[in-house]
Parts: sequence; structure tokens; C-alpha cells
Amino acid sequence: MRTLRKPETFQRLMLKERLKGRRIGYVPTMGALHEGHLSLIRAAKKESDIVCASIFVNPLQFGPREDFRSYPRPLAKDLRALSGEKTDFLFHPEAADMYSDDFLAAVSLGNASAESSLTKVMCGAFRPGHFTGVATIVAKLFNIVQPHTAYFGAKDYQQTVVIKKMVRDLNFPARIRVVSTFREKDGLALSSRNQYLGPEERERASHLSRVLFSVKKQILDGEKNLASIKASAVRDLSRYVDRVQYFDFRDPETLSELVKPGRATLAAAACYVGKTRLIDNVIITAAGGARRTKS
Ligand code: PAJ
Repeated sequence: MRTLRKPETFQRLMLKERLKGRRIGYVPTMGALHEGHLSLIRAAKKESDIVCASIFVNPLQFGPREDFRSYPRPLAKDLRALSGEKTDFLFHPEAADMYSDDFLAAVSLGNASAESSLTKVMCGAFRPGHFTGVATIVAKLFNIVQPHTAYFGAKDYQQTVVIKKMVRDLNFPARIRVVSTFREKDGLALSSRNQYLGPEERERASHLSRVLFSVKKQILDGEKNLASIKASAVRDLSRYVDRVQYFDFRDPETLSELVKPGRATLAAAACYVGKTRLIDNVIITAAGGARRTKS
């Protein structure tokens, strides 16, 4: 695996690869890699001639009271994990090379259109500026890496919706693939932040996915009253976690709120266990699997 730090050098290298006709698969990350990240690398590996990853803890997407400084940065371990998956290139820039002191331009996600609600709900309601920070770094990274296909995890569902929208709106020549959430045996979605959890917190954290899967079952069993499902889900989850930040039923494409199950229903939640913020989601379709179209 070749690791490069300078944006210009990486961009030149990728342009050369593109001109040779190679299909570039790309997995952007903030490091502290786990099996969830590696499942994205494996998906990229299957469909690409060369696989690139990036590790960059993006200051722009963290709020002033969030964990930017303490975010884990186990670089040597990450390099071993990426090499183990036969990743071809790693882009690992320094913050000063990504954001100069006079950095000015950014991707704007706010306008008067209905779809600006994509960033005002769910995590966007509680993390002002977060998705602008994500969109801006992903736009920069896409310009540097020039991927044919980029891979994102369904774990951060709202992020995938925002990135797909940005790619469409700004005509990025990249396809976005969403890879299903990689989970521990007890259902907990893998996350770099799980390492903040102590053993007792780790046990309580497992109830987030348990409650989401129980909600999924209730809907598949024919329960239609989402308000009452939500009320009992929040009651159940609150017995284990310290605070439920949101628990929403939404259309998976528009993120508009649902009052009854749709053809597909996104159930998404965020909660705190101790000081650690956890998010997770499930998508419920009539078939319980891939979305069906009427034949
Ligand atoms: P990070 O949290 O490092 O996640 C990198 C990618 O891994 C994201 O697409 C995320 O959804 C995916 N991922 C995380 N946990 C996963 C799991 N359990 N199963 C499957 N995929 C999982 O998301 C970011 O970084 C940043 O916002 C980034 C896109 C890199 C921009 O800075």
C-alpha cells in the first residue's frame, strides 16, 4: 500500500490511474478502523481495479463541544488493517494541507427548497453545521481522489442521503454505493466511538439495535401506528440508555416524517450512553429485504 500525504501529489497520481483506464474505488474514513470500515474496502475491492482509502479526522464536521481532539487516531494499527485488505493507496493528509488559514469556499446545503430539510432533521437537528462539514470534506476528497465509485456505510444513513444529493446537485462523476451496517454479535453497530464505552456501558449500548430490530418486527407483523410503536420503543430504550436524542420514522429517500409505514420505512435513533453518542437505524420494507417494485 502506498501512503501519500500531499493533496496535489495524490490528485496527480489518481489522474494517471484514471488515464490508464483503471476503475477507482474509494472509501473515505476518519480512521480508528474496524470491521465496518473494512467491509467497505472489501466491497470496493470487488468492483474496482484499484482501491483507495483516506484517513482524515475532519475538524469541520465536529461541533465545538464534540470529540475532535479526543477522537481516536491509532495510525499504525489502521495502516496494518488497510494493508491486510490489500488496499492500494491511502491518502492521509495533514489538516493544514486541507484547510489553509484563509480557507474560504464550502459546500452549502441550505436553500429554500424542500430538500434542505435533509439536513435539518435527525442528526442535523442536533449537530448544526455537521453535514456542511461532511459535504465540504467529501467534495474536496472526491476532487483529489476522483473515484469512479465511493463507498459509504448505511450506519450513517443520513450522511449517505446528503452525499448522494450533493453528488447529483453538483454533478460529481462518481457513483455512491451504500454498504449495510456491520454489527457485533449482540447487534451493536460497529463504530469508532464504541471504544469510549466502559464494560457496563457497552452492555447498555446493545439495547439500541435491539429496540430498532424489535420495531422492525412489529411493523413487519402489521402494526401500523408508528406513534404508539415509537412511544413504547422510547420507553424501552430509556430504561437502558442515559438519553434518547431522537427516535424517528422517516421516508428513506426524502427523510420526511412518516405517520404510517411506507413502502419502505427508515427507523433511526440517536442516544447517549454515558458521554458517548450512538446512532443506528434499520430500513423496513414489505419484504423485509430488498425494496420491491410492483410487477
Ligand atoms: P467514519 O465515521 O470513519 O466512517 C467512514 C465510513 O465507514 C462511513 O461511510 C461510515 O458510514 C462507515 N461505517 C462506520 N461504521 C460502520 C459499520 N458498522 N458498518 C458499515 N459501515 C460503517 O463517516 C465518516 O467517517 C466521515 O463523516 C467521512 C465520510 C469520512 C467524512 O469525513
